[in-house]
Order: sequence, then structure tokens, then C-alpha cells
Amino acid sequence: MDYDVAEREIKKMIANVKNSNLLQKVVDYLYENFERYSWVGIYIVKENDLILGPWRGEHATEHTKISIGKGICGSAAQSGKTELIPDVNKDNRYLACFVSTRSEIVVPIKKNNKIVGEIDIDSDIPNAFDKQDAFFLKKIADMLSKHIC
Ligand code: SME
Repeated sequence: MDYDVAEREIKKMIANVKNSNLLQKVVDYLYENFERYSWVGIYIVKENDLILGPWRGEHATEHTKISIGKGICGSAAQSGKTELIPDVNKDNRYLACFVSTRSEIVVPIKKNNKIVGEIDIDSDIPNAFDKQDAFFLKKIADMLSKHIC
């Protein structure tokens, strides 16, 4: 899938969808259109934790609540910076969800400079994410930010 096409289609989706399923629809779109994206989820910041919102993948994760600062997700929520992990098994912060996962990307969602959530994507392929994914997903995160309360 071409990143520009995906960006345009998600933008259209956000403009058209006026219901609470929007986050799930965007998760579904990413999961269905990017083969490397083996599990896609959105975590929402609630006080000092990340709470799992919509997700799509073969299996549910046990990590439905992650403290800010813990794991790769919690680190991204603390720093506000995208985490691009080429090999999850080499990162000692990694909280394992699925045995098949080899790489991960976490992109914070910011609203008025505050971190309100994040997009978390796992891949079964090693080193599946690059700067293009980070750039693309940052744009999606920016589009979603005003739809997170
Ligand atoms: N691996 C994440 C936990 C969330 S799962 O990938 C769905 C982490 O280390 O924070």
C-alpha cells in the first residue's frame, strides 16, 4: 500500500465518519492494508496508565493496561517520541504480547502538546518499520488527536 494513498483515504474516513467507531475503522484500515502490520492497536492515556482501546490482530493482548514509563508503549508515552524497535528481543523494556512479534513501532498521539494516546503496531517480520512508517503514522496520529477525549 502506498503511504500517500493511505493517508488520503484515512483523511477521507475521518472527515466522513461521525460516530464513535472512528478509531476502530482507522485501526482496521491499517491492519487490512499493510501486510507487515501484524497487530494494530490504539492506547489511550488515562491518568498514569495507557488503556487499550480499539485493536486488530489475530490475538488479544494481555497488556490492556500499561503504566506510563513501562515497556516500549509506556516509554513513548513518557517521552512523547516515536519508538522504532527493529528487534524487540534486544530491547529490555519490551513487554511481550505475542511470541510471533519481531519488531514494533509506537507513535504518540498529541493534543495541545499533551500525550493523549498512541498507535502501537507489532510485526511478525524483523525490522519491519522504517522512517517512512514513522512519518506516515505520525500524520495519522495528528489526524486522530482531536477525536480522542
Ligand atoms: N510490546 C508493548 C506492549 C503492547 S503489545 O505490543 C500489544 C510494550 O513493550 O510496551
